[in-house]
Amino acid sequence: MKVLIAGSHGNIGRRLTRLLAEAGHEPVAMIRDASQAEELRELGGEPLVADLAGDVSDAPEGCDAIVFTAGAGPGSGPEPKQVIDRGGAEKLVAAAEAHGLRRYVMVSTVRADDPTSGPEHMVPYFEAKGQADATLAASGLDHTIVRPGRLTDEPGDGHVAIAPKLERGGSVTRDDVAAVVAACLERPDTIGWTFELLDGDTPITEALDALTGAADQ
Ligand SMILES: NC(=O)c1ccc[n+]([C@@H]2O[C@H](COP(=O)([O-])OP(=O)(O)OC[C@H]3O[C@@H](n4cnc5c(N)ncnc54)[C@H](OP(=O)(O)O)[C@@H]3O)[C@@H](O)[C@H]2O)c1
Repeated sequence: MKVLIAGSHGNIGRRLTRLLAEAGHEPVAMIRDASQAEELRELGGEPLVADLAGDVSDAPEGCDAIVFTAGAGPGSGPEPKQVIDRGGAEKLVAAAEAHGLRRYVMVSTVRADDPTSGPEHMVPYFEAKGQADATLAASGLDHTIVRPGRLTDEPGDGHVAIAPKLERGGSVTRDDVAAVVAACLERPDTIGWTFELLDGDTPITEALDALTGAADQ
């Protein structure tokens, strides 16, 4: 599967590029800075220079799926959140539709469904992510919306907690987020699901089986 990764040079993006290449897929690594191309090539990606703040309408050309794992970052104010976290994700929804691409996996966040439940300075971020999620969900594309808790760089152990609503806070390793996204791309039964993701005790495959009902079949 040829997968466009928006945010491929990010902390999740680099992990996902490597995982998809190792699994025999063709990751197309979207970067805005051409000097990152060699690093992405070494991870197994085919670099594509495109800036989410500009025109990305042709970025998905020839791809089978999009993963959005970009973000303006914690130091940015409300406007970059609207331009990149929301606007960039929404531009790729439109680009997918224009290119007849169906599959789109969003790396969202907990609280995207309830932005004001978080600390005040985080509200513009949660709002932008929630707006992007709503646009994707309403698009009719084959979407999966993954909502991780606070991301950490601890080594992943392949064990997670997954549910539409987990009713607790917590963190999750970037390793395991990348592994869950890679699993979703290979599982059509995750299409249409929006779920929260935290560190937990359940192997990823079992956690996704329980979510989608695959365990009952
Ligand atoms: N941090 C958390 O605790 C947390 C929690 C839940 C969900 N999330 C979400 O998880 C996702 C990935 O997190 P992460 O830690 O991997 O983030 P990250 O390391 O900050 O990576 C974000 C990537 O987005 C890219 N980007 C920013 N602006 C861009 C633009 N205009 N055009 C193209 N690419 C652009 C950055 O490119 P450069 O390399 O050029 O800067 C970077 O590679 C994000 O969607 C974030 O919102 C984060």
